[in-house]
Amino acid sequence: MKPYLKEHPWSIIEEGFDKDKHEISESIFSIGNGHMGQRANFEETYTGKSLQGSYMAGVYYPDKTRVGWWKNGYPEYFAKVLNATNWIGLKIVIDGVELDLNTADVTAFRRELNMKEGYLSRTFSAKLHNGHIIDVEATRFVSITSKEIGAIEYKLTPVNFDGEIEITSYLDGDIINSDANYDEKFWASVNEEAFGNEAVVTVKTKKLDFYYTSKKATYVYTDGDAIKPDAASTREKYAEVVFHTTLKKGKTTVIYKYAANVTNRDYQDDTLEQIATKKLHDAVETGFETLMTDQKEAWAKKWQDSDIVIEGDVSAQQGIRFNIFHMNQTYTGEDARLNIGPKGFTGEKYGGSTYWDTEAYCLPFYLATADQRIARNLLVYRHNHLEKAKENAKKLGFSKGALYPMVTMNGEECHNEWEITFEEIHRNGAIAYAIYDYVNYTGDKAYIGELGIEVLVEISRFWEERVHYVPRKDVYMMHGVTGPNEYDNNVNNNWYTNRIASWTLEYTLECLEELKMTNPATFDTWIEQLQLSEVETTKWQEIIDKMYYPVDEDLDVFLQADNFLDKEIMKVEELDAKHLPLNQNWSWDRILRSCFIKQADVLQGLHFLNHTYDLETIKRNFDFYEPMTVHESSLSPCVHSILACQLGYQDKAYDMYLRTARLDLDNYNNDTEDGCHITSMAGTWMSVVQGFGGMKVIDQQLHLRPFIPGKWDAFSFKIVFRGARLNIRVTQAQIDITNESHNDIDVIIFDESIHIKGNETMSVATN
Ligand code: BGC
Repeated sequence: MKPYLKEHPWSIIEEGFDKDKHEISESIFSIGNGHMGQRANFEETYTGKSLQGSYMAGVYYPDKTRVGWWKNGYPEYFAKVLNATNWIGLKIVIDGVELDLNTADVTAFRRELNMKEGYLSRTFSAKLHNGHIIDVEATRFVSITSKEIGAIEYKLTPVNFDGEIEITSYLDGDIINSDANYDEKFWASVNEEAFGNEAVVTVKTKKLDFYYTSKKATYVYTDGDAIKPDAASTREKYAEVVFHTTLKKGKTTVIYKYAANVTNRDYQDDTLEQIATKKLHDAVETGFETLMTDQKEAWAKKWQDSDIVIEGDVSAQQGIRFNIFHMNQTYTGEDARLNIGPKGFTGEKYGGSTYWDTEAYCLPFYLATADQRIARNLLVYRHNHLEKAKENAKKLGFSKGALYPMVTMNGEECHNEWEITFEEIHRNGAIAYAIYDYVNYTGDKAYIGELGIEVLVEISRFWEERVHYVPRKDVYMMHGVTGPNEYDNNVNNNWYTNRIASWTLEYTLECLEELKMTNPATFDTWIEQLQLSEVETTKWQEIIDKMYYPVDEDLDVFLQADNFLDKEIMKVEELDAKHLPLNQNWSWDRILRSCFIKQADVLQGLHFLNHTYDLETIKRNFDFYEPMTVHESSLSPCVHSILACQLGYQDKAYDMYLRTARLDLDNYNNDTEDGCHITSMAGTWMSVVQGFGGMKVIDQQLHLRPFIPGKWDAFSFKIVFRGARLNIRVTQAQIDITNESHNDIDVIIFDESIHIKGNETMSVATN
């Protein structure tokens, strides 16, 4: 698709209204605050193609599973984040004609997502079929300082007429998920009322009893005079208040709409309306302007810790800020019950549930840009699901251990394709790896003794039982698995899965040993509680020692799986471009038989366990696998970009970076209307910081090895590391590291250690 958004360092801007792109823009311009979020739907009625979507984090529905052929072990349901009450709705009728951009002539349309200050705005001029021309200016945000509050300012100015306007401000809870398996509505009515300027709708889910109250207040001013509502009504799951006023040519009518959205995840069912009222009244009293000022200040603080500046390339600058903005909108880490769905609040695909994406791709972003308790909460989330992961392993026939789900909302497996649900078990390794990553970055070893060890032991137990011993070769193998490359299913000995399993066992043994030395009392308590025997740990060591890894001696590469080389080996560049993307042009059968790789697989292992491989090994494997990789998962280019940086393949690194940075803005995969690729956005951040910045933490030390793409004048990124906040600016000539905190820090840059005092800048030459 031809890019249609304007380049700007801090905003996403669309000029001119194109109905065909509306659903894409609805995804891209989405707003959220970690607690709730919504697609960039219009406030006024729009009868064209649109996905109306307002989502509340953690509120989900167990939608009965739909599969062609049932397999024992499949989950009963897929938990879906619910599309919930539409609180933004305004129905505008002018002299009997409804304002609807699908039927009006629209000129001067401009939509802007202001990422710096955290709001969405839109201006346009609409000519209705009675000839009336009306100018509209709409601004809205969901507050990141009062997480339950959303606010709208909506201004109407008649250009060529005086006339009567009817404004209906409504709450509509009669919403259906676009991805409902059986077209079932998930919400039931509890209460709806409308009175004065206010209305309330409380709905509850038909299963699981999530209660959701949306309460709103609407104020209308014409030329400064307050207009009183003159009608109010309700029906099931719906409530409205209506205003009538006279529009005068050139005079502006302003609508303010405030909403408080609360659920029984946070409060008692029977207090919801009372709490929503209190929050709503506080917001009204604060007023739109002040709420907006608070919003801007809070976003300034977020940017202070997480901004990346790219000088000399506005398109790249916009791309990276777009990614950071969405990451910060999707997860704030304040609530350990929440996680990061692959589409965040921008769409419904993937059900809004948690995947291994969180541990493998998102965690590093939060580790380096926010307080460490935020990343810790992502680990606690999995700890809270440990019992369910143990049940999952039992359900699949294991006698012990934990298998975390491929997709989950509450810890239970939701995924239902056997070759992924039962076989893509490498996800368990990512959950163990995240514990390592967190401890390695933060130095918070106490986490192991508090919660981490329990998760590590149970995952290790799973691996112990999932491998099998092959006496004639005296090795342990793992058959019937799917690696991260979902274009090769049900293979034996996926190198990455074997490696991450064995690594988990190693790390668990290491953590147990360290706990025993440093905190014997805690160690004893865990041994007792987990009933961990020496027989088990001895077996783990034996598995580590005898794990089988497929390799090819001639090529000197790790093999993605047994017999990988028996496939017809060819490079993507040898394919006629008309075949790409394969997933839209080839049958699944043809894909599975081919050598083409969806996303990093062996290379995922070399990325995670980078510190355990030498550069030559990484190079040989990269040179072998990357040319076969089609990058048809949005999670793929970032890993390749990071490794390419490490190998000095600067063009490749930049090329891969571009594929990830503007994936949604330029709709590369032709699927942005389903929602944005939120989890891969964290991967983009990784490409800059771990790739171009060369950031690593080895033995408690922060390492940097920056290189700057030739197209950029300079780039800089922020990281928070062990009490210090650093701003690292890289130009073609030098690297300036500014310590923006009071705490001194040692940084190893190109293998040399430098000491940076608080509030000081040190410079070194770019290699
Ligand atoms: C990828 C998985 C990923 C999922 C959700 C799939 O296309 O292959 O690795 O977990 O998308 O992002």
